[in-house]
Amino acid sequence: MKYFIVTYGCQMNVHESEKIAGILEKLGYTPADKREEADIIVFNTCAIREGAEERVFGNVGNLKKLKKIKKDLIIVLCGCMTQKETTAQKMLRTFPFVDIVIGTFNLPKLGDYIAAVKKGRQLEIWQEGEIDEILPYKRTSGDNAWVNIMQGCNNFCTYCIVPYVRGREKSREEQNILNEIKDILAEKKYKKITLLGQNVNSYGKDLKNPISFAKLLKDICALDGDFTLSFMTSHPKDLTDEVIDVIASEDKIEKYIHLPAQSGNNRILALMNRKYTREKYLSIIEKIRAKIPNCRITSDFIVGFPSETEEEFNDTLSLVKQVQFDSIFAFMYSPREGTVASKMENQIPQSVKNERVNKLLNEEKRIQKETGKR
Ligand code: SAH
Ligand code: SF4
Ligand code: F3S
Repeated sequence: MKYFIVTYGCQMNVHESEKIAGILEKLGYTPADKREEADIIVFNTCAIREGAEERVFGNVGNLKKLKKIKKDLIIVLCGCMTQKETTAQKMLRTFPFVDIVIGTFNLPKLGDYIAAVKKGRQLEIWQEGEIDEILPYKRTSGDNAWVNIMQGCNNFCTYCIVPYVRGREKSREEQNILNEIKDILAEKKYKKITLLGQNVNSYGKDLKNPISFAKLLKDICALDGDFTLSFMTSHPKDLTDEVIDVIASEDKIEKYIHLPAQSGNNRILALMNRKYTREKYLSIIEKIRAKIPNCRITSDFIVGFPSETEEEFNDTLSLVKQVQFDSIFAFMYSPREGTVASKMENQIPQSVKNERVNKLLNEEKRIQKETGKR
């Protein structure tokens, strides 16, 4: 019996697919080279932008033919799209040939759902759960091992669907993280550990005995072994001096910070509920550059947020000019059902978003040529 997993979205999802692979291998499945060879196909979905969802709808639709030829094929949809009830229902309606639709919190019970399907059942969805600590991972990222340190997000940036589909922030106990990393290092296959969380800098605040992200970093660096430590993503509002100092002083930590700014304009940042200003952001960059020379810094930006004027967009351009990032990701704002921004007035036309994203990317290219950063 063979499995094939199709993954969309962020590193967290990539890592979650490693968990799904681990569960399936424990059930006796082995990896298939292509989907035609698989007895079970899992789509691990992403809901961050409309484009991501459309891709999933298109690609799942294509499986209909395969299912016709191979009646016993089991098709599973999971991930962030299935956590949204309206989307999950739409997927069930659109794809009558899909066997299992489960939310991210139901993953540990995947084996039960597969058994149930064999008796002819179909779906089961969501319910926020505890972090599962005993799941096996089938690591697939070469000499890098992803380690989840927390799930969910409390920030409710007004454009973002993540807090709705991933639930509230929950940190793993430090000892569990350290034990997982010790096991990884003992395998001697991995040179790099990358910690994952939507906002790693708020790690540990929700624990019974709260600890800081800086302390976690230090404790991981104190573990024996030759490895590089990295992490993502940092929210500018929570990146403390203490964390910057630890990155500077610990040889094992990669000198790299992904620090999404989203916009260079204060009115838009406030509307986005990002809880920092352009000036605050720039002061953090200055601090990083002073304490960690040669630190690579990258960022994410959203253009065409509701009501963003041309002048306000120009502030984003000027921020990019000023900071000279090592690289940036630029996204066109995509309204997500249920979020605050999707109900805001003055949504920006697609043509303007296209124009702005191209301007931003061109500016970025120009700067990189000039500075020789790429
Ligand atoms: N937790 C991370 C980012 C997660 S999503 C953080 O806080 O930075 C990755 C990126 O997708 C975000 O940084 C943002 O730039 C982009 N993004 C999120 N929601 C979006 C939306 N509705 N439209 C367009 N881009 C979006
Ligand atoms: Fe989304 Fe904001 Fe949370 Fe990042 S911090 S996942 S952008 S709500
Ligand atoms: Fe990641 Fe997409 Fe979910 S970016 S958290 S997989 S909505």
